[in-house]
Amino acid sequence: METTGNTIGIIGGSGMLGSTILSALLGSEAFEQSNFWVSNRSGNASNVEQSSIIHFTKDNQELVDACDVIILCVPPARFPDIDIHAANRLVISVVAGVTIDEMKSKTASVRVVRAMSSPAASLSMAYSPWIASTEIVSDDRDIVRKIFGACGTTDEIFDEQQLDHFTAMTGPVPGFVAYFAQCMVDHATSQGIAPDVADRAIRQLFVAGGTMLAADRASPADHVRWMIEYAGTTAAGLIAMERSTLSKTISDGLLAAADKARSI
Ligand SMILES: NC(=O)c1ccc[n+]([C@@H]2O[C@H](COP(=O)([O-])OP(=O)(O)OC[C@H]3O[C@@H](n4cnc5c(N)ncnc54)[C@H](OP(=O)(O)O)[C@@H]3O)[C@@H](O)[C@H]2O)c1
Repeated sequence: METTGNTIGIIGGSGMLGSTILSALLGSEAFEQSNFWVSNRSGNASNVEQSSIIHFTKDNQELVDACDVIILCVPPARFPDIDIHAANRLVISVVAGVTIDEMKSKTASVRVVRAMSSPAASLSMAYSPWIASTEIVSDDRDIVRKIFGACGTTDEIFDEQQLDHFTAMTGPVPGFVAYFAQCMVDHATSQGIAPDVADRAIRQLFVAGGTMLAADRASPADHVRWMIEYAGTTAAGLIAMERSTLSKTISDGLLAAADKARSI
């Protein structure tokens, strides 16, 4: 089937990430609502928003033939099973650890984009960095920016290895932020605060902290400096944390996650 315009197909569009990217695109005015295809192996569409207007198939090649933009969203372990011929298509992959060269040889497309995103796309709050093959043209860049702009904020990057670090840092949501929140809840309960109160308090702290960091032009480092200069209770805690190995421990954890992304 031949198509023109931006008909977008998501291979694995019923999965956790694929379905949230789809819902972000459906919620964006930049895309024709009827121009979406989804494929998976099972034919199960129960996870997909507005499934009545989506073209479904269990045949990945049928999706490729119908679409001019293909988003690959299958688990890394299932990437070797993908058997498509997508020459002359723009192929975008959010599959952790799969390189531009691997995408080219798997899909027969040279216009490929390797990206990372997150299920926060359903709230238009994902961060989606991407890197393009040299064959990408400017119209391709525009569509990639529109797709990931609908999912949240996005940057084109120019060093493919950095994708593994973003897979570690911003791919999982709430990811490491949940761990920091858990540490604070554990601390609160160790001080005798009721677990439900501790849970509510720390969730609210992270909502407020995240919202203020996002709204403000000041960097995280600026906020830390201002709190230390204020010389109040937070300063005492921050100085103790800065003198500890906490910063290195966080870096070590993120490096371990990036190593896993490389070898996944
Ligand atoms: N979830 C996250 O937080 C997150 C964050 C960043 C990046 N990612 C990346 O996103 C990708 C998908 O992750 P996920 O968590 O969304 O996985 P998931 O929930 O397991 O979904 C995988 C999807 O792929 C489909 N699928 C599997 N094999 C297929 C095949 N051969 N052909 C067509 N469809 C196939 C599955 O449907 P059937 O089982 O019906 O085939 C399902 O729709 C991964 O590569 C991961 O690295 C995920």
